[in-house]
Amino acid sequence: MSRTRRREAAAAGGIEVVWPGKYDARGRRVRPRVEAASLQPSEHHGASPPAHDNLLVHGDNLAVLQALLAQHRGAVDLVYMDPPFATGTAFELALPVHVPGAGASTLRTPAFDDRWPSGAAFLDMLAPRLERIHALLAPHGSLYVHVDPTRAHAVKLLLDEIFGADAFQREIVWRIGWVSGFKTRARNWIRNHDTILFYARDPARLRFHKVYVPHPPGYVRRKGTPGRVDGIAIDDVWNAGAADLALSGADALDSIQIKSFSREKTGYATQKNASLLRRILAASSAPGELVLDPFCGAGTTAAVALAMGRRFLAIDRGAAAIQLARARLLREQPQASWSLLQTEPPIELPLQCTRTGGGVVVRTPADAPGPAVALQLEPGRDVTRVRVLSVALGPAVDAAAAQQVAAGADPLLELGVAWDADPAAPYRADTLRLATAEAAIDRELLGPARARGCAIVQLVDLDFRRVQLVVHWQRQARTLTVRGTMRVAAASLHAAAPQPARTLSPRAGSRGASRRA
Ligand SMILES: C[S@@+](CC[C@H](N)C(=O)[O-])C[C@H]1O[C@@H](n2cnc3c(N)ncnc32)[C@H](O)[C@@H]1O
Repeated sequence: MSRTRRREAAAAGGIEVVWPGKYDARGRRVRPRVEAASLQPSEHHGASPPAHDNLLVHGDNLAVLQALLAQHRGAVDLVYMDPPFATGTAFELALPVHVPGAGASTLRTPAFDDRWPSGAAFLDMLAPRLERIHALLAPHGSLYVHVDPTRAHAVKLLLDEIFGADAFQREIVWRIGWVSGFKTRARNWIRNHDTILFYARDPARLRFHKVYVPHPPGYVRRKGTPGRVDGIAIDDVWNAGAADLALSGADALDSIQIKSFSREKTGYATQKNASLLRRILAASSAPGELVLDPFCGAGTTAAVALAMGRRFLAIDRGAAAIQLARARLLREQPQASWSLLQTEPPIELPLQCTRTGGGVVVRTPADAPGPAVALQLEPGRDVTRVRVLSVALGPAVDAAAAQQVAAGADPLLELGVAWDADPAAPYRADTLRLATAEAAIDRELLGPARARGCAIVQLVDLDFRRVQLVVHWQRQARTLTVRGTMRVAAASLHAAAPQPARTLSPRAGSRGASRRA
């Protein structure tokens, strides 16, 4: 056994998790070099100037964590992380939409892929991130790792190795709640909990603020005396005892995924309850302290941190997650000051715009090789207006559209769309107004087509650079749905809109994907 290997096993209390690829042939630990991401400011909200905290970062968290070390080494008070659990699922974001004339429907967008080729790949992903999190934590700091029983044991051994076995504090069992009929069909004990592993950066200096849950109604102690005024001290099994089960409304600890209705729901499949995060933040952080969530999904930790007067750093590489988190912060914390950072430069795509007497005609350029749409965002702090410069949905968009084209009924060739999303504003033929506070999710625009049927154009703002266009085209009682992911050209072409037919060349790899509904 090599020296490093012996050291790592010792830190882990003599037991070590080893996976193929952890060590090289000479027994040295494999640690690929990580370039720090270049964090580029893209939006700032609120009255205070941009700072080094209250950051929502779109990018891979390994490179982002590496970059955060420059400013935040040893300065993070609490980390909550809810990484992919290796569930074997490709998660989607499902947004309910209403299509006039076609009724209710669901718009599905890829969210994140939790399929791993092997357990080794999962640990390979997690280990370098945990090492950086360890370096970011303050000496009194805490780490909560949310996993499920399929990975909890390997992750615990990995944490023992990186933090030291004595840094382990508690294994919190979170009972997810009511179990659906489908789950109860398992010929086994019914699975009903996640595991949250709680570690201290340094057990001798750990700060912990003891948290109590109110006594359930009618509670009397065995001796007949009333209980502590504070309530019952919370143990490490959550959402199972009488006091937790008596919690209701937003305080209830049942997973919001099993609730058919919850105001908190954003549509993100793995979104966690704010109540869960409030409990963790109350115990392991104080007002003004810094909370990091490197797998932030729909932004639960960031939203709870702001609501509880903490500062946050939140990272996700998924465009859908960032869009939801961004929309949520704007909606739930309209006064807060925070910034959105990107790790990739904006992408430009071919733009084409033809202006006619009445406004902009949205056209399919005959030579468009695939779906591409470019929108122009007005430069400025907030996105207040989006101007459609072109829609390019070539025959490759999907087979059905191609057939329509072949039959001489291309739904998009002459679609003059009248954009008027703001009922309060005077009618503008070529301007679509989007209030950032509403984040433009699920915005529907009714465009009276100048010819051949009627189209409903829907814009779904995935993040500040990509917008999904969904065209529901109705003709003779048939609805054809075409989807294309559009890229937003950030600041370059504002003056192009009134010009006739103007085309700019794309940057490599910038074409959006499309799929048939
Ligand atoms: C289980 S979800 C987190 C859900 C979150 N706790 C919430 O309340 O919405 C895991 C998230 O990790 C993100 N993710 C996975 N790998 C990542 C990586 N390498 N860098 C950044 N984010 C990543 C996924 O996009 C996904 O949003």
